[in-house]
Parts: sequence; structure tokens; C-alpha cells
Amino acid sequence: MSKLLDKARDYEKEQYDKIPAELRPAFHLTPWVGWINDPNGFSYHDGYYHMFYQYHPYDVRWNSMYWGHAVSRDLLHWEYRPVALAPDESYDQHGCFSGSAITLEDGRHLLMYTGVHPSDEDPKRDAQHQCIAIGDGRDYEKVANNPVLSVSDIPAGDDKIDFRDPKIIRLKDNTYVALCANLSADGSGQILMYRSEDCLSWKFWKVLAKNQNRYGKMWECPDFFEIDGMWYLITSPQFILAEGYEFISGNGTLWLDGSFDEETGEFVEAGHHRSIDYGIDFYAPQTVLTPDGRRIMIGWMQNWDSTEVRGEEELPWFGQMTLPRELFVKDGILCQKPTKELEDLRHAPVTYENEGFTGSKAFSGIAGQIIDLTISLRAADPQKVYQKFSVHFAEKDGHYTALDFDPQEQTLTIDRRFSLIRHAGIHQRTCSIEGSGNGDLKLRLILDRRSVEVFINDGEKVMSAIVFADPEADGISFHAKGGVKMDLCKYELDESVK
Ligand code: FRU
Repeated sequence: MSKLLDKARDYEKEQYDKIPAELRPAFHLTPWVGWINDPNGFSYHDGYYHMFYQYHPYDVRWNSMYWGHAVSRDLLHWEYRPVALAPDESYDQHGCFSGSAITLEDGRHLLMYTGVHPSDEDPKRDAQHQCIAIGDGRDYEKVANNPVLSVSDIPAGDDKIDFRDPKIIRLKDNTYVALCANLSADGSGQILMYRSEDCLSWKFWKVLAKNQNRYGKMWECPDFFEIDGMWYLITSPQFILAEGYEFISGNGTLWLDGSFDEETGEFVEAGHHRSIDYGIDFYAPQTVLTPDGRRIMIGWMQNWDSTEVRGEEELPWFGQMTLPRELFVKDGILCQKPTKELEDLRHAPVTYENEGFTGSKAFSGIAGQIIDLTISLRAADPQKVYQKFSVHFAEKDGHYTALDFDPQEQTLTIDRRFSLIRHAGIHQRTCSIEGSGNGDLKLRLILDRRSVEVFINDGEKVMSAIVFADPEADGISFHAKGGVKMDLCKYELDESVK
């Protein structure tokens, strides 16, 4: 083991004991200590879900990248394993960037990641290439012939600097494909496919998809999978331009669908291009297929555009993952719901039915910081739709985060401008809720101390955001202009992270 890895392993163990559990979310994965960004190597291996993550243990800001590691039997109770990769070779000395994992035929666990190193052509710039480490689920050894894909494997004319985030998938004929993000000659993203029989030697196969300057520039962190016969490419575009309520400027996320011919490698887009999440803090999601056939996605519950917006508390960690979400398709749209395992954490239900009100109202027993709350909303008078509905949560002393619904505009806005935050920044985002003009809306909010994930109309859209609040802020209140009726169902959720 290298000195760098050894030192990081000692450091994270020693620091972890100093972090009280209540300074972390209850069931969202945070780094052992320090900084976390993208989920990496999300895989099922040896009876455990493995989640690696872009990690810098020594600071709460991005710096030289390691791969942190945690495992779980149910995607919610995470147990830390020692940091898996350190930037300890000349070919990855400036960082072990994002990548994926797969179990080999012989049972070994293989990690494919981007090694960052000073460019040969211009040592002032970094270059990127793909590397491999193989291990037993705890300790990993980098292979002797790294990098396994270098800049010479990039098609002629395409960018030799941005080349990263390999995601390995397995085709039906048992060969492997690694999808890599790259910039094409037109300066916009493209996803390259490399093929291998053994996961060790790789050859360029085909360009899977080209951005053609439609959605941002580079498409980071690709993933590609099939659901009900249709294929879905998910990526995280940098420098995307705002487009209606679909995309906001900056670092976004995108899914697109199409048909994929596994023999020729041809992907024909079917025409949907949508955000994966409509909240403020979401980026770089990765998926895994569970043994019972569910496609589960976890993202980084942060966004590069909001990492400097920090709350009152000085925490020894920064960044967390989203809930595991099951992907499914309804009417051609990729939808998400919290993984069913979350239901096992629920207890102490409080319900209200057919509650009509106008103005402001709170309900006894409807409060909390670690909860699963479903609100089913409709107009009190179907002939006269109300003008506005809001729910405030993480509320204390006049500070709160809100969801504001406007049935006339058919929009839902997440708004944390009035939360306990002293930084200006992106604090609002609106998405459209098609077909909600009659005032019908269903919201499922999962709160976990410092975050909210809102599943809209059974997961047609999702909004994720970090919440800034007093550690005691647990108030929830409802506000309506015009008459509404609603059903409420709230559960407490168990603390589950060890
Ligand atoms: C996405 C990303 C990846 C890169 C990693 C570096 O958030 O920029 O493209 O591999 O983060 O930490």
C-alpha cells in the first residue's frame, strides 16, 4: 500500500470518531471526513452495494481526488470501508477522477477511473486517461499496464484534454463497453464507446452520442441503460444554457432516450431531452442494477454552482449523496421514486384526510426533520381553482424553505431565500407541472436534517436541495390563497447511517 493511501486511511478513521452522528444526515451518505463529490463505482458485489465517491479527506473543499468507499446491504445503512484509491502514481498524480466498477467473471471487483496527470504536450495543463484497479471489495491494486486508455485512443481531431468518467456496462453478448466523456472537434460534448472482452484491454468502438452544441458543452459522467426496451443516456452537461423551466444555466443534468443496437453500437435518439432533477443541488448521478432487476440511481446532492453556499454550522464534512431512487418509465418519461427499502425506516404515522382550509394552517404532529411526508392536494371547489399553495418546512423563527405551487401557471418552485443562509446564490428553481391546472398535486417530501427531496406526482419530476436551517428547525406550515383540500400522511424515519 502506498504511503499516501495509508496516511489517508489512518486520517479518516481518526477523524471519524470525532464527528457526532447528529452532525450528519440520518440516512444519506456523507464522506467519512472532508469533501465528497460524484458517486463512483456504484455496483453490487459480493452481497453488498458498493458506493465509491470523489473524495478529499483533508479539506471540506475540492482538492486532489481520492476514491472514498462505503458499502450497504439495503442502500440506506452505509458502512464505511477504507479509502480505496489515492493519487499515488505518476499517471494519476493530480487525481483519481470519476469512474465505475464491475464484477469480473472470476469474482474480482474492477474499478475503472480517470487518472489525471500533467499533459505531455503542455505540462502546465492536466491531461486525463483511463486506469484500472482490481480488488476484493476492500483493497484495490492498480494494474501494471495503466493507463488502459490514453489520449492516443481518442478519435483524430477530438479534444485531447477532456477525456474522463468511464462507465462500464456489459452487453448481452458478455462483452464490455466503457462510455467516456470527451469534447468533440466542435467544442461540445460527446460520449465515446470503447469495447473489451476482458475489461483490461480496450479498443475504440463508436461515438455513442454527440451533443452538437445543444445542451451545454462537455457532457460529464455518462451512464447508459435499458428500461422496458428503450435505452436511456444520462449525463451532466457543463455550461448549459437556460431553456424555459426545463434547464437552468450552469451545471445541469440531462436524460435522453433512444434505441440502441448492441451489435452495431448505433444509438438513435427518440426525442426526449429532459433534466433529471429540477432542484438546486443535484449532479453526476450513477446507476446500478439490483439483483431483483431494479435500476437504482444515486446523485451527488450538490451542484458545482452552489458549493460555496454554506450554512451557519462549520461541519467537518461537505457534500452528500441523494437517496437511492428507482427509475421507471411512465408514458415515455423517465420517472423516479425513493427505493422501496426506505419504507422499512418509516414509523409513527400521522394522517389527516380531506382537510379544507384557506390562509395559513399547521397540523398537530406534522413536523420534523427526518420525515417522509405526502401531501395530496386539490381545489376545495372543483369549479373554482385556488390561486396559490405553499408548504414551508425546516421552519423556525421566521426562517424556512418553501415549495410554492401556482395552478394557473402550472408551476412548482422550490425557494430557500428565507432559510438560514447569509450567502446570495441560487436559492430558487421552478419547474412546470403539466396538467395541474385543476389544482391537483401530489408531493412526497423526504427530509433528512439538511436536505429535501421532493417527488412530484409519484415521481414524474424530482427536486433536490440542501436546506439551511437551525439544527432545531422542524416546523411545517401550509398556506393557501383560495380554498384547498388536502390529505396528509407523515412518517418519522429511522436514523440509519452508522
Ligand atoms: C463531475 C466531475 C467529473 C470529474 C470529477 C472530478 O462532477 O467534474 O467529470 O471526473 O468531477 O472530481
